[in-house]
Amino acid sequence: MKITDLKKQQGSFLLNVTGATFEKGKVHGIIGSNGSGKTTLSKIIMGTLPYDSGNIDYEGLTPRDITMTGQRPYLMHTNVYNNLVYPLKVRGETIDESYVDYWLEKAGLQDKKKQYALSLSSGEQQKLSFIRALIFRPKLVIVDETLSNLDPDSADLFERLILEQQAKDPITWITISHQLVHIRKICDMVHFMEKGNIIAKATPREMFENPAHPSVIRYLANTEVSFKG
Ligand SMILES: Nc1ncnc2c1ncn2[C@@H]1O[C@H](COP(=O)(O)OP(=O)(O)OP(=O)(O)O)[C@@H](O)[C@H]1O
Ligand SMILES: [Mg+2]
Repeated sequence: MKITDLKKQQGSFLLNVTGATFEKGKVHGIIGSNGSGKTTLSKIIMGTLPYDSGNIDYEGLTPRDITMTGQRPYLMHTNVYNNLVYPLKVRGETIDESYVDYWLEKAGLQDKKKQYALSLSSGEQQKLSFIRALIFRPKLVIVDETLSNLDPDSADLFERLILEQQAKDPITWITISHQLVHIRKICDMVHFMEKGNIIAKATPREMFENPAHPSVIRYLANTEVSFKG
């Protein structure tokens, strides 16, 4: 996917992505300070927020191929199972119960199948939202801070799910996170966002061990993560 001169004015904030490329089949990370425009950009890519001008070349992806799991998971007022199969239902797919169970088990939610989704803990809600995004085999998944409430074991589980998927049948991921250890572990490419623009792109190794851009250096100086060694 290629983005060129994408502009969106939002109150006093201007999103202005001059150029960005998200290579197919790769795990991309977007990092940057609060309010730099990460969520705004992901909503525009997702198609849920209109933009003022510019171009997004989806390179053949259609809205049906794209899914996003957000900072505040949107769950329906029904049980876990119904939430999970919803994307399959709207696409008119027949529901293979063993496939649904496979995902519930992956997320450790098999005992909660009949539980009212909004009574799940916030971490469980995020897990549900994550597997619901994956269940219909999307080609582009945007993960906006979805995994930030997870305990270390669960976060590890989701990292493994992403890496397993990439080993089996690579899809494109855009993962937005302030957890740089997570970004470092799973991403092929990292994009750094500042004041509405993507101003640096590098492999995690280059970005974290040898950052070139002064803004990235400043951003990393405030983190406790050392990636060397
Ligand atoms: N509807 C709106 N009207 C006015 N300003 C908005 C609106 N929506 C977002 N903004 C502003 O746009 C800027 C970018 O917000 P965005 O949510 O994209 O940041 P972010 O990089 O995702 O931050 P965070 O790391 O905190 O999630 C912020 O300053 C925000 O206040
Ligand atoms: Mg955000």
